[in-house]
Amino acid sequence: MSKVKTAVLVSGGGTNLQALLDAEAKGMLPHVQFCAVISSRPDAYALVRGENAGIPVFVAERKGKSQEAFEQEILSYLKKQSIQMIILAGFMSILSEDFVKRYPRRILNVHPALLPSFGGKGYYGLHVHEAALARGVKVTGATVHYVNEIADGGEIILQKAVDVLPGDTPEILQRRVMEQAEWIILPQATEIAAIEILSVGKVKSEK
Ligand code: GAR
Repeated sequence: MSKVKTAVLVSGGGTNLQALLDAEAKGMLPHVQFCAVISSRPDAYALVRGENAGIPVFVAERKGKSQEAFEQEILSYLKKQSIQMIILAGFMSILSEDFVKRYPRRILNVHPALLPSFGGKGYYGLHVHEAALARGVKVTGATVHYVNEIADGGEIILQKAVDVLPGDTPEILQRRVMEQAEWIILPQATEIAAIEILSVGKVKSEK
C-alpha cells in the first residue's frame, strides 16, 4: 500500500505530534508515513518525541533570521526527505503565501478553537483559550484545516466541540480541548488528507 511521506512541523511540547505517532502505532494511519519532525525551536520537547519514535528530526530555528531564510531552510529539508504532506502541530510561525502555494491542499493545521472564532494573527496557544474565556463562550473546540495564504482561513477538514465549564482557567481549558478534540481529530484529518493525495495522484497517473 502506498503511503504519503509526511513531515510534522512543531515548536513546543508536541502532544499533537505524539497523538499522531500513537495513532500510527495503532494502525490508524495506514496511508501516512512520518518521515520528518521539523522544529522552529531547538529546545522543543517535540524533538525528543520524534527521536524516540525513530523519525529524522531537524531544527530550522526561527530566531535571528529573515522569514525567507527560515522558509528556505525548511523547504530544502522537505525536498531532501521527498515530503508530500506537511502537518502543522503546534507550529508557532505563520508561513508565507509563497511557501503555502507550493503545497496546495498538502498542508494541514490544528487550531485550538472552532474556526472562524478565535483565529488569525495573535490567536495561538494559550491566547486562544484566554480569548474564549474572556468572551464567555460556553462551547469551544478544535479545528483541523488546510492551510492557505489566510492565517487560519483554509478549508475546514474536521471540527470537534468541547464544553467550557465553570471555573475553567486557560490552562484547564487548553488541556480539555487537546484531550477531547485535538488529539482525536488531528490523526483522523491526517488520514483523510493522505487518502485524498493518493487518489489525486492515481487519477493523474491513469490519464
Ligand atoms: C495546541 O493546542 C495547538 O492547537 C496550538 O498550540 C498547541 C500546541 O501544543 N496551535 C496553535 O495555536 C496554532 N495556531 P503541542 O505542542 O503540545 O501539540
